[in-house]
Amino acid sequence: MTSPSDPTAHTTPVLSFDDVHYSYPKRRKEIVRVLRGLSVDVAAGERVALIGRSGSGKSTVLSLASGRLVTPVGTVTVVGHDLATLTADERAGLRLQHVAHVHQDFRLMPRYSALENVELPLRLQGVAPAVARERAREALERVGLGHRVGHRPKHLSGGEQQRVAIARAVVRQPTLLLADEPTGALDVELRDEILQLMFTLCAASAILLVTHDPAVADAADRTVRLS
Ligand SMILES: Nc1ncnc2c1ncn2[C@@H]1O[C@H](COP(=O)(O)OP(=O)(O)OP(=O)(O)O)[C@@H](O)[C@H]1O
Ligand SMILES: [Mg+2]
Repeated sequence: MTSPSDPTAHTTPVLSFDDVHYSYPKRRKEIVRVLRGLSVDVAAGERVALIGRSGSGKSTVLSLASGRLVTPVGTVTVVGHDLATLTADERAGLRLQHVAHVHQDFRLMPRYSALENVELPLRLQGVAPAVARERAREALERVGLGHRVGHRPKHLSGGEQQRVAIARAVVRQPTLLLADEPTGALDVELRDEILQLMFTLCAASAILLVTHDPAVADAADRTVRLS
């Protein structure tokens, strides 16, 4: 497992993995060892691509970074907080305030429209309803879905659902953006457009981006490979 450090990065990292090991709990007598000593830092304004074969643990790394999983071995720090020292509620609070996660399987709320999906995190952050609605509408227009704001996820194509998930994440301009194959369901032209949009709207964010696509990895500042 490699974790090249960027000699030019000297700001305090937003996200830091220090010698992190992770195994999924035993099922049917078998422990699934996924990470064996991952160290990586991502600073504000930095875009790091996380690559590796299917099953190498990329989505697991994002779950550890968001505090949905917690490791007993090694340290994961997000905006200065060692996640293992926080309660589940405190980790949820940290996520709400600082972290946006574009999941590999989108995880949109099925009963909500595209617009409601995008405005929900803003509302939870305390943004006034009218302002949240306007920002959500604008974000959906930016990802090319201005004509689909009233659609529920099941009435959207895979690529459209993916763009709603991206709009929901970038609209918050999160301190830390975790994106799991965020352009995997898009054609090449849309991929480039959406990637640039993500980088522009989240220029100040620390971005950890999982991808199988060499062109997406090339667009990042550096690459970390899981093996
Ligand atoms: N909840 C779980 N319980 C047990 N094992 C799991 C669990 N989730 C994932 N795994 C295993 O952990 C390994 C890493 O999974 P992960 O989803 O992080 O891989 P990945 O690199 O994201 O793969 P892909 O590129 O296919 O999305 C896999 O071997 C997977 O089977
Ligand atoms: Mg994955």
